Parts: sequence; C-alpha cells; structure tokens
Amino acid sequence: MKSLGIAIVGCGGITLQNHLPGLALCAETKVVALCDNNPATLERAARETGIAVTSTSYEDIVRRDEVQAVIIATPNVSHAPIALAAIAAGKHVLCEKPIAMNHAEAQQMAAAADAAGVRHMTAFTYRFGPAMRYLGHLIAPGDLGVPYHYRSCRLQDWGTRNLGWRQVQALAGTGELGDMLSHRIDFAQHLVGPIRRLVANTKRLVDDRGGHPSDLEDWVAVLAEFEGGASGVLESSKLASGRNESWRSLDYVELNGSAGTFEFTTGKWNELLHGKAGGPGLAPLAVPREFWVWPGCPRDPGVGDPLVTFRYDQEFEFIDAIRNERPCVPSFHDGARTQGVMDAALRSAELKRWVEV
Ligand SMILES: NC(=O)c1ccc[n+]([C@@H]2O[C@H](COP(=O)([O-])OP(=O)(O)OC[C@H]3O[C@@H](n4cnc5c(N)ncnc54)[C@H](O)[C@@H]3O)[C@@H](O)[C@H]2O)c1
Repeated sequence: MKSLGIAIVGCGGITLQNHLPGLALCAETKVVALCDNNPATLERAARETGIAVTSTSYEDIVRRDEVQAVIIATPNVSHAPIALAAIAAGKHVLCEKPIAMNHAEAQQMAAAADAAGVRHMTAFTYRFGPAMRYLGHLIAPGDLGVPYHYRSCRLQDWGTRNLGWRQVQALAGTGELGDMLSHRIDFAQHLVGPIRRLVANTKRLVDDRGGHPSDLEDWVAVLAEFEGGASGVLESSKLASGRNESWRSLDYVELNGSAGTFEFTTGKWNELLHGKAGGPGLAPLAVPREFWVWPGCPRDPGVGDPLVTFRYDQEFEFIDAIRNERPCVPSFHDGARTQGVMDAALRSAELKRWVEV
C-alpha cells in the first residue's frame, strides 16, 4: 500500500480532539505537514507531533509534493479559500463544518472538487455515532413508516464566556446555527430527505462575551417542512444554563412516523429508544455490535471513551474513500445542502416569514 501524506491546516481544538487521533488509526497514512497562521500554535503543534514541515501560509503547504490530502480545521471564513487552493493543487480535502460562509461558496467548493476529480468530505462528525448510524439503517427500509415529524434539540450551557472567533460574524458567518444546528440540519435531511421551506428565528441574548463584543446568535429555532410532507422542529442554544456542555448536555433527535417512533441522544452511543405505533410506549433498543465501528475501521470500540472515539472513524472514511477512489460520506454536497438550509434560516429570521429553501 502506498503511503498517503496529509497536511493539516489549523492546529487548534478539533485537530487535537478528532483529526490527529483519527489519522493515527489509518494504515500507511502520515501527517507530513502542518499549517497554522498563529506562529506560537504552529510551533507547539510541531513540537508535540514531531512534524518538521510547517508553514504559516496554507498556499505553501497545499502545494507540496509530499501532500496528497488536506484537512481544513480553521475558523469558517477561511474554509473556502483553503479548500479551493488545495483542490487547484489536485489534493483531496476533508473540511470542517460548516464548510463555507454561505451556500454559493459551498456549491463552488463542491463543483471545483468534482471537476478536479479529488475526494471531498464534510466533517459532519455525529454521522459516525453508532446509534445515529443504526437509526439510519433501520429507517432506510421503512421501519418508521411514512415520516410525520423530525425533532431535534441541542441545549448547552456555554454561559457568557469568550468564544474567540466563534462570536465574530466576519470569522464564523453564523453563531449557534453553523456551530451546532448545522449537524442537526444534516441529520434531518439525511434521515427524512430535503427540507422544502422553513420559518426561523435567531436570538443573541449576550452581547458581551468575556469582555469582547459578540455579534452572533446564541439561540436558533427552525420550523421546517420536508419535501415529502413531514414537519421538522429544530432548536439549539448555548444558553441553557445548568445543562452542562458537549456530550454531557442534551443532544436529542426524535422521529415519528406512521409505524412508530425512534429517539436518539448522543450521550447514549449504543442505544436508541423505539416504540411501535399503538404500542405501550418507548423502550430501549440496543445498537448491534456491527454498528459500533464504521465498516472496515480498525478501531477497537473497547478502548477509550466511546462518546469520544467514534469521531475517529471520520478520518478512516476519508482515507478509505481516497484509497478506493469512491465518494466520501458525507461529501461537500452534503455540506452545501446544509448550507442552503442555513442561508434560508437567516433569510427567514431577517424577513420574519416563511421562505423556500
Ligand atoms: N466536526 C465537529 O464536531 C467540530 C467540533 C469543533 C469544531 N469544529 C469546526 O472546526 C473548525 C475549527 O474549530 P476549532 O474549535 O478547532 O477552532 P480553534 O480556534 O481551536 O482552532 C483553529 C485554528 O486555526 C488557526 N487558523 C486561523 N486562521 C487560519 C488560517 N487562515 N490559516 C491557518 N490557520 C488558521 C488558528 O490559529 C487556530 O489554531 C471550525 O470550522 C469549527 O466549526 C467542528
């Protein structure tokens, strides 16, 4: 097997949490170059990883011959320019979500990657959760019946602390919408199909975070209608005080259909709740072992915290798709589809009315 050289652009939180441990699982795959525009962060990353090829300029890094694929883990505003530069250099790209600042930019990225014949992937990490995968598997052949309702609720307590680039519109594009709801918009369309129209509202309740102005929303809610006729209700907040954060806080998805109901929460990685129409109510449904790890991934599900380690399967999928010359799941097209709904939500909140997606 030929060795694959990876460059990582952006050496912050998510690179350490997901990308580096995920890549370590992939055979004959080596991180050969690092880029961060903060010299101190870059130096620390180089020291901790032992990777000698570094640059503060992504233009230099994506052009290097030893680099075959690029992982983009920078603030949202720089995703499109970095991805387009990497694609122009013929490199495969895994980009963090939201992949762009708006739908037009996301579509441009997907079209450029397709035209160049490179692999492209959106880091919708929660698609890799075992219970979410099992849910997708169950409802595909019709275990839900006719879909009636999709419901998701993501409630965290981020308080009023400084969120860095995440609270600056020019760097992040959107607040809670892109940061958290984008994953749940992806679930919705993955499980139920395209959203046709929606009405949305956003709210910023904290204008100053840690002594710095915030110009982005802390809360967002969307009322949606799917093309198939089902309804959707999606809510996400950073200000659910007392609910804790990350996987310790509420991250809930419920699907109701003519045949029954399924409930998924991120905190329960190997269990769904299921109830049949007319039955006595919801009961736990264990996720079979074959769903604990992404197909083909060598990760041992018994090692580490399972609420963290499923995220490493995302890297395996990217590398496996490159090796087998097949599309990545989820691709830039999935990223762009979510971005279309995000744009519509912003438009609706501004116009204060229903809009078509
Ligand atoms: N998939 C997920 O579950 C998930 C979770 C967290 C974050 N994210 C996404 O990952 C991305 C990064 O988030 P993070 O939490 O790691 O942020 P972070 O602030 O911890 O890290 C970002 C890094 O990028 C560097 N950077 C900024 N601009 C750059 C540029 N032009 N060129 C090179 N380096 C640059 C910064 O110096 C910083 O080190 C965001 O898009 C975010 O939405 C995704």
